[in-house]
Amino acid sequence: MPVRVCFVCLGNICRSPTAEGVFRHLVQRAGLGTSIEIDSAGMGSWHAGEPPDPRSVEVAADRGIELDSAARTFQVEDFAHFDYLIAMDRENQIDLYAMAPDTHARERIVLLRDFDPSAEPGAEVSDPYYGGEDGFYTVLDICEAACAGLLDHVRSHHALEP
Ligand code: 4NP
Repeated sequence: MPVRVCFVCLGNICRSPTAEGVFRHLVQRAGLGTSIEIDSAGMGSWHAGEPPDPRSVEVAADRGIELDSAARTFQVEDFAHFDYLIAMDRENQIDLYAMAPDTHARERIVLLRDFDPSAEPGAEVSDPYYGGEDGFYTVLDICEAACAGLLDHVRSHHALEP
């Protein structure tokens, strides 16, 4: 059984597809592509079916990372499927808690930056959607740092070997 990870933001076109692409890149490079299943979803449905924001695609491509997801809305059934529900900000986290059917589901909700040892407790990935390109690079930097920590965590907690 693979370890299943779902990144969650609001629109599923900027932050969570970036985290998904960055994490997949690290997982594949580590030779763990078949051991870890990776997805993303949004708490809102405005962009369902759309590709990631072109600004996210561009900055990720700049670092050799491809973003090729299609936006989808987070469903209550996702709680039964995923081992890690990884929120980008506290609002996403609160929305997930509100939807969680039971304690077991609630226990699997975390903030992405909790996996970055250099980030403050409770640190968020800010929404870049209404800002300039700088914000998209910031999201990428944050995702790279936190996803490296996430991979370390998943490897050690699930004894994964390539
Ligand atoms: P994301 O950014 O949550 O990082 O995908 C957003 C994209 C679109 C909207 C909000 C946030 N929106 O309101 O359309």
